[in-house]
Amino acid sequence: MQETKAIAEIRKAVKAWKQEGKTIGLVPTMGFLHEGHASLIKKCREDNDVVVVSDFVNPVQFGPAEDLEAYPRDFGRDSALCESLGVDMIFHPEPAEMYNDPHITVQVDTLNETLCGVTRPVHFGGVCTVVAKLFNIVSPDRAYFGEKDAQQLAIVKKMVIDLNFDITIVGCPIVREADGLARSSRNTYLNPEERQAALCLSRAVKKGQAVIGAGVEGETVLAPMRQEIEAEPLATIDYVQMVDALTMQPVARADGPVLVAMAVVVGKTRLIDNFSWSQDR
Ligand code: PAJ
Repeated sequence: MQETKAIAEIRKAVKAWKQEGKTIGLVPTMGFLHEGHASLIKKCREDNDVVVVSDFVNPVQFGPAEDLEAYPRDFGRDSALCESLGVDMIFHPEPAEMYNDPHITVQVDTLNETLCGVTRPVHFGGVCTVVAKLFNIVSPDRAYFGEKDAQQLAIVKKMVIDLNFDITIVGCPIVREADGLARSSRNTYLNPEERQAALCLSRAVKKGQAVIGAGVEGETVLAPMRQEIEAEPLATIDYVQMVDALTMQPVARADGPVLVAMAVVVGKTRLIDNFSWSQDR
């Protein structure tokens, strides 16, 4: 497995792979890899001749009061995991390699105006900026994103259409701990009591899944979910919402494909979870 911090080095390798007619898959990550990331890498390994993983805590997707400094990092462990999963190259740049100061950014459309876009106004612009740069650096045939970050996945899919990237975006299911908690690098912030309290998110998902169906009103789905979270003293709801699966705009009832998503602060840690519903799924 090759490791590099240099864009020029990636480009050289990509040129050689393309000349050999190899397909390239990219898994963008911010590192501190867990089973959720591993599932993307495994799928990417199955689908492509070459697997590139980027491991970069992207400063421009963090707001001023967010956890950029505290975000967990362990490149040695990430590198060992990638090696064991058959990754061909890890791209681990320094911020200065990625960003000029000042620099041009990608601006997101109305998909940014709901859910996490409300509480984290700079977040998705920063995500799209780094993902667009990674797409230009690696020129992958396919790129892999988790449904755990469902709004991110929807926005990246829209960016690929709107900015004409010739890349297939592959969405991968949420990977959970045995007790239901969605895997996240941020779970490491939770103390044992908060870790237990955090189970209210996956319990809320189950409550919502139990009542959703064709034509069911949003409130019928969301009320029992909110109740589940409000019963947990350490948890505070940021949002629990039902939106159109493509546009991310709120919908009153489940008429077409919808995303039911939530953000909940447990102690000081903001966690997200969601489920998608459509008639034929
Ligand atoms: P990060 O949080 O490291 O996640 C990298 C990828 O792993 C994302 O596509 C995310 O949805 C996926 N992922 C994380 N936890 C998962 C889980 N439990 N199950 C399935 N997939 C999971 O998301 C980012 O980084 C960044 O915003 C990034 C896209 C890399 C841009 O900086």
